[in-house]
This record gives sequence, structure tokens and C-alpha cells, in this order.
Amino acid sequence: MSKLSFKHKCLIACISFFSYSLAAHGPVTPQSIDTSELPQLGEEWLERNPYRSETGDVRKKTLAIGASGYNQNCARCHGLGGVSGGIAPDLRMLATDYDGDEWYGYRVQNGAVRNGAVYMPKMSEHLSQEALWAIRTWLESVEKN
Ligand code: HEC
Repeated sequence: MSKLSFKHKCLIACISFFSYSLAAHGPVTPQSIDTSELPQLGEEWLERNPYRSETGDVRKKTLAIGASGYNQNCARCHGLGGVSGGIAPDLRMLATDYDGDEWYGYRVQNGAVRNGAVYMPKMSEHLSQEALWAIRTWLESVEKN
């Protein structure tokens, strides 16, 4: 009996150590982003980037939120500052039209899985639609050199 509970304790220690190291070094938890200052978009996913035509203060806020949202959640795969290092596609190159919006929406909602391996997580499970369109708007604003 005492042997069993010793094993049990080891198991618990082991599991907590493992989850601790995952939290510290493993998959980076997407950061939630405060988008309360942006025009709210509702639950249903839109087909067009709703922030593309905004101007003035709304545009400034959208770009600021998009830049930090991108750098916290996408840059580790898609490259710092939007410039791909080759691991994942360069998102500045997505067309800024209906097709580009549709493809963007498809990928952020479905992620990318090949042969059961997750290449890109479903980002819409972690980030709001507001955050994801702000990121798209910022990407469109970055110079394509
Ligand atoms: C863990 C790595 C990873 C993270 C994090 C990630 N992606 Fe991706 N993403 C990929 C990979 C890999 C592909 C290519 C998938 C393929 O072609 O099968 C991809 C593809 C895409 C595409 C399609 C691009 C194209 O040209 O076909 C879009 C759009 C996209 N990602 C957006 C995002 C956004 C926005 C974020 C952050 C909110 C993000 N991704 C976070 C790895 C990632």
C-alpha cells in the first residue's frame, strides 16, 4: 500500500514538472489582446477585412494592436516584423482583396495540419476576430521590399 502511494506521488511530481516545463519552454500560449477600443465585429466571421478602410484614430489603434498582436502570436513562425524567415509563408504577400481575405480567414480559423502534425494552430480559438483583422490590417501596411 505504501509502495503504491509512493509511486503515485512520483507520478504527480512528474506530471507537474512536465506541465511546468511545457508552460516555460513549450508551445507558446497565444497572448490575449485588448481590442475593446476597436469597432466590435460580433461573433460571425466576416469575409472582408472590416478595418481596411478605417481612417484617423481607428486606423492608428488598429495598426498598433495589429503589430503587437502579430509579434506576440505569429512572428515566431511567420517572421519578426512580418518578414518571413522561411519557416512559414510571408504574410505581407497575401493579396489585399477578397481572395486574400478569404484565404486569411480560412487559415486563421482552420490552422494548418499535415499528416496529423499541426503546422499552424487554429488561431481563432485564441484570438478574437477583432485581433485577427487588426493583424491583417497591420500586415497590409508593412512595406513589401
Ligand atoms: C506554429 C507556427 C505558426 C504560427 C504561430 C502561426 N502560423 Fe500561420 N502558418 C504556419 C505555416 C507552417 C503555414 C503554411 C501552412 C501550409 O502551407 O500548409 C501558415 C500559413 C498561414 C497563412 C496562409 C498563408 C499563405 O500564403 O498561404 C496565413 C494567412 C497565416 N498562416 C496566418 C497566421 C496568423 C495571422 C498567425 C498569428 C495570429 C499565424 N499564422 C500563426 C505556421 C504558423
